[in-house]
Amino acid sequence: MFPLLSKESNVFIAEDLTKDIEHFINNFPHDKVFLLSDETAFEMCYPKIKDVVGLSPERTVIIPSGDNNKGIETLAKVWHLLSHGGADRKSLLITLGGGMPCDLGGFAASTFKRGIQFINIPTTLLAQVDASIGGKTGINFEGFKNEVGVFNQATAVLIETSFLDTLDQENIISGFAEMIKHAFIYSNERWEQLKAFDIINPDYAELKDLVADSIRIKDYFVQNDPLENHIRKALNFGHTFGHAFESLAMHENRPMLHGYAVAFGMICELYLSHIRLGFPMPLVMEIANQLEAVFGHFDFTKEHFDELYQLMTHDKKNESNQINFTLLEEIGKIQINCQASKEEVFDALHFYCNIK
Ligand SMILES: NC(=O)c1ccc[n+]([C@@H]2O[C@H](COP(=O)([O-])OP(=O)(O)OC[C@H]3O[C@@H](n4cnc5c(N)ncnc54)[C@H](O)[C@@H]3O)[C@@H](O)[C@H]2O)c1
Ligand SMILES: [Zn+2]
Repeated sequence: MFPLLSKESNVFIAEDLTKDIEHFINNFPHDKVFLLSDETAFEMCYPKIKDVVGLSPERTVIIPSGDNNKGIETLAKVWHLLSHGGADRKSLLITLGGGMPCDLGGFAASTFKRGIQFINIPTTLLAQVDASIGGKTGINFEGFKNEVGVFNQATAVLIETSFLDTLDQENIISGFAEMIKHAFIYSNERWEQLKAFDIINPDYAELKDLVADSIRIKDYFVQNDPLENHIRKALNFGHTFGHAFESLAMHENRPMLHGYAVAFGMICELYLSHIRLGFPMPLVMEIANQLEAVFGHFDFTKEHFDELYQLMTHDKKNESNQINFTLLEEIGKIQINCQASKEEVFDALHFYCNIK
């Protein structure tokens, strides 16, 4: 195992997974170790860590899979099992799974007895490049995504890309959206590299390197602004429209994976970047076509515009009742705290509806 990033960073790439987890268990002061996973992640990934000394079935908490379970009831169940399993302030919680158990487990750990340590072992592409890193934890509440949560860094994050071998194509593609986002906010060179990568038939060895690069980009923004007061907002690119699409899809019972919503959101926010900051239109068109080829299209009509706008006004990133966007002057040149009028937001939605 070796530290992937800066000295302050606690993200590690696994070399010998079992030994590396044991290293963490032995090197962080704790009494009991708890494992939290969701049903599918547990079935697919636990066999790879079953020999770890220190884990036990009595201290393994398994929650139902899927983002619709990232809520208060599941959280209460986790608190209950920690409490009845004898967890105290010195206990350590290991999360094994995608962004769902990472977010919920991190929040459960951050709040149980005013906070116990937790280690993330992300098993989806999205969680490896994004959700497991940066200290955002939380749950969905009353139909709103990540409505309740806290910032709290994991004690460590351990990356093992071979977990991705069992991940279905949709989830691989979903995670790729966040990697593309990292490219857009970082450099054109990075975008060229991802553009050339075939995510539909991925070369896993190459993907492993791309994952490490993507983590470095996310970490750069997090380290410079852990509480998202300024530069970290760059990571929200694509997410203002994206979260609105995700919520609309959820309300209409046609849920979509987070990364797909972000990809659709990035197309809209590139168009907004064109209107507001002069991002070149030919490049908007080129990228829109490239993203459509990988992620497909989200169908909605003019009748949805008001609802989408209302959803955007509820976004956590807003300040003083203004919708807050991160936009691009060009690839790698970000502008945070951008505003747009309702008409401009509608223009972007209109643009999106017509690219199909
Ligand atoms: N905290 C953050 O900074 C941050 C950033 C981005 C996203 N998120 C959150 O992350 C969540 C989405 O993450 P996700 O896409 O990983 O979702 P997820 O955790 O729901 O995982 C997706 C599916 O893959 C299954 N799975 C997990 N690992 C597997 C493996 N190795 N093989 C086969 N199946 C596997 C899971 O059981 C689940 O059914 C959302 O809740 C989102 O809000 C958080
Ligand atoms: Zn995201």
